[in-house]
Amino acid sequence: MSFASNLLVGRSAFIAGGTSGINLAIAQAYAAHGAKVAVMSRKPEKVDAAVATIGNGALGFAADVRDYAAVEAAMTAAAAANGPLDIIISGAAGNFLSPAAALSANGFKTVVDIDLLGSFHVFRAGFEVAAKPGASMIALSAPQASAPYVGQAHVCAAKAGIDMLVKCLALEWGAAGVRVNSIVPGPIDGTEGMARLAPNPSMRKLAEGATALGRFGTTDDVVQLALFLASDADSYITGAIMAVDGGQMLAGNASFSHEKMPAI
Ligand code: COA
Repeated sequence: MSFASNLLVGRSAFIAGGTSGINLAIAQAYAAHGAKVAVMSRKPEKVDAAVATIGNGALGFAADVRDYAAVEAAMTAAAAANGPLDIIISGAAGNFLSPAAALSANGFKTVVDIDLLGSFHVFRAGFEVAAKPGASMIALSAPQASAPYVGQAHVCAAKAGIDMLVKCLALEWGAAGVRVNSIVPGPIDGTEGMARLAPNPSMRKLAEGATALGRFGTTDDVVQLALFLASDADSYITGAIMAVDGGQMLAGNASFSHEKMPAI
């Protein structure tokens, strides 16, 4: 983010997975716009390194999203220090390419546990310490939620679950004045996700060609939507699945990962 404002002054934000990639960029942007930010991820050294780049007195917690008690403790501590949570982001994710027939049950479970169960943990624990009414909860989902990808059965199942979880929580928690939405980044340049899904020039070309705009997006494209959903710009959007994907879904060609898969 190249600018700062008072947009989020007085807000308390918690970002699970906020120590790298798009999630870290969101944490940095929230702090630059005045929010008090807390981030959480698994490795203490990664947490410390990220906190040093966020500024505005950011707090860091080392906890695994798969461990409900640890998530609850981190979110409770963040709310005690920064005030009830106005903005809660579930962005922790695990991914690797594997044909379903070569994937162990534990491999499938591991990704579902991190992505889907982890999102439930963050939102469930977050609801207890959220600012009510007014809190904005956001899941970082993926195109895999609505398009099947070869080599991504575990991720597709987990992300589809996240988007439905978002809709159910929005329905139940609207009465408490809590909004719950999902951001779906398409192919975003420079991210770990794209490094895994499109690791060479021919795969990059396929990924670009799968969008209507014919190009990758930037991390800042996603950050801008995360700022909008966290702000008071609109308080009537809830249960929405919002793509920042260059029209990847419209192009009807979201699945490009099959090119890389070995024959099985
Ligand atoms: N292909 C197939 N199976 C895999 C795999 C791969 N590339 N990577 C992990 N698994 C399986 C393991 O074999 C294991 O199953 P098993 O016990 O039956 O052998 C299971 O998944 C758990 O693996 P483990 O390494 O013990 O889990 P972990 O909790 O330490 O880490 C991830 C799992 C998914 C987080 C790990 O792949 C990772 O660290 N990824 C980098 C971070 C990341 O994915 N970020 C998201 C970018 S979009």
